Amino acid sequence: MTTNIKIKTTCFLFIAALISLCLALPVSGEEKTEGKVPEEVPAKYEVSIELGRSTYQHYCTPCHGVQGDGNGFNALHLLVKPANHTDSKFMSERNDTKLFDTINLGGVEVAKSTLMPPWGAALGDERIKSLILHLRELCKCQAIKSW
Ligand code: HEC
Repeated sequence: MTTNIKIKTTCFLFIAALISLCLALPVSGEEKTEGKVPEEVPAKYEVSIELGRSTYQHYCTPCHGVQGDGNGFNALHLLVKPANHTDSKFMSERNDTKLFDTINLGGVEVAKSTLMPPWGAALGDERIKSLILHLRELCKCQAIKSW
């Protein structure tokens, strides 16, 4: 009988110890990083046209369309038609800095509709630069103006 109680107590203590260990682990992990600034944050993305293509498909096609022609499924519901990125005349009138500002800060920054959202916080510089490489691929054009 006493042995039985001893076994039960040991089991209980063992399980209690396991639970407290599990509860303690994440807390001690948090304490470790708290207040410490990482010495070097590695760049998450490298600028590349492949990255531009995949970012475009993920973030831009609902409005600008899978082909980039401005006919995304969401375009029907917008009062202002999304730009046609395959229109080389239209796209060549915008240089890369202007495209960057538009994507980074949104349409309103370039006196265009607020229906073109700002992406800077979500995407970061590398993915925006990659998007511009892909936009130039879609329009098969370069900027003809310096602004
Ligand atoms: C919610 C819909 C929506 C999404 C998503 C969207 N756009 Fe737009 N975009 C618009 C609309 C609407 C316009 C047209 C604005 C106007 O003509 O006033 C526009 C215009 C533009 C223009 C042309 C601006 C100019 O100079 O006239 C560029 C470049 C552009 N978008 C890039 C992008 C990129 C790159 C993405 C993905 C990261 C994206 N957009 C995602 C709605 C969207």
